Amino acid sequence: MSETAKSRAAALAHLRSRDFAKGDPIPLPLTMASIFHTPGEEAGFDQYGRYDNPTWRAVEHALGHLEDAHCLAFPSGMGAISSVFFALLKSGDRVLLPADGYHATRALAERFLKPFGVACDTRPTPTFLDGGFDGYRLVFAESPSNPRLDICDIAAVANAVHAHGALLVVDNTTMTPYGQRPLDLGADIVVSADTKAVNGHSDVLFGHVASRNPDIVAKVRDWREMAGGIPGPFEAWLVHRGLETLEVRFDRMCSSAETIAKRLKNHHAVGALRFPGLDGDPSHNLARAQMERFGFLISFELASEQKAEDFIDNCALMQSATSFGGVHTSAERRSKRGDAVPSGFVRLSIGCEPVEELWQAIEASLDRLDS
Ligand SMILES: Cc1ncc(COP(=O)(O)O)c(C=O)c1O
Repeated sequence: MSETAKSRAAALAHLRSRDFAKGDPIPLPLTMASIFHTPGEEAGFDQYGRYDNPTWRAVEHALGHLEDAHCLAFPSGMGAISSVFFALLKSGDRVLLPADGYHATRALAERFLKPFGVACDTRPTPTFLDGGFDGYRLVFAESPSNPRLDICDIAAVANAVHAHGALLVVDNTTMTPYGQRPLDLGADIVVSADTKAVNGHSDVLFGHVASRNPDIVAKVRDWREMAGGIPGPFEAWLVHRGLETLEVRFDRMCSSAETIAKRLKNHHAVGALRFPGLDGDPSHNLARAQMERFGFLISFELASEQKAEDFIDNCALMQSATSFGGVHTSAERRSKRGDAVPSGFVRLSIGCEPVEELWQAIEASLDRLDS
């Protein structure tokens, strides 16, 4: 992790203390309120729970500190993504999406943007620059893509997109602000499913939108206020608490993933392994240039659907679960969610278990596939 990421992490735990008065609680208080005391006509304070809440504000402040941007919180990653689409697009616009990214983003565009007259195209992440961006109003990239972990050159995409006057949105869910900072690379907007590593405890759905452009932030905020897709205060409180340990968890998860990816690559049962941190991975050189860490996701293929299911079910330190980024190592055979991958394709999310114990459990489960 770079020094700047470290200094941001160090400051995070003390952000709130800048405004402390004597006797204030040091951990974030949870404010469960839909109404506030609002005598008179003045604005400038909390009025109503759909517009603002002190607990969201704290989580937005913390996320904004990590993104160096204005942040808006949402009740899920898809809530964040849909707010960007519906706040910024209008009939007659054209958008470009990754063909190999999270499937619900494409489904949202296909099922809900198209009927509103927004044209949607898709393009694979490894060749995202090919064909240029003429005619697009908004380009949406996901890097590394979920689940195949391909990446695109975010800075080059941002330059090319801006040359056509369009906006670049990057889904940074797989990396978190500690692993990659797309706004520094030129993206206009970051969206993230904080359901995953940012919260990290698999007990909440949450998302955020970050941008350094005040007009974009105002439009997305206006959409949130009018559409009412707001996070609950308790969820915001949990995410704030998760965020305070993100740097420690993310560091452990990424370091363990580096160790385990190398060992998995050498295991005879494992094929087609992808991890951006491995020398020789098609994404490696670009990953070194644009990512601060290589992440905690590893993908690979086992010989059959049954072997993939057996590997996941028989590993003592692995949960069979969709989603990723939690403290518990988990894995999923992704073709069962409809991703266009072989039936033995496994997406593995490395958790916070001590790495040698985790590796022994993974190796034992792989070895059992031979019997
Ligand atoms: C890359 C990516 N973006 C967005 C989402 C949506 O997040 P949520 O389930 O919180 O709506 C997911 C969920 O898996 C995801 O993997």
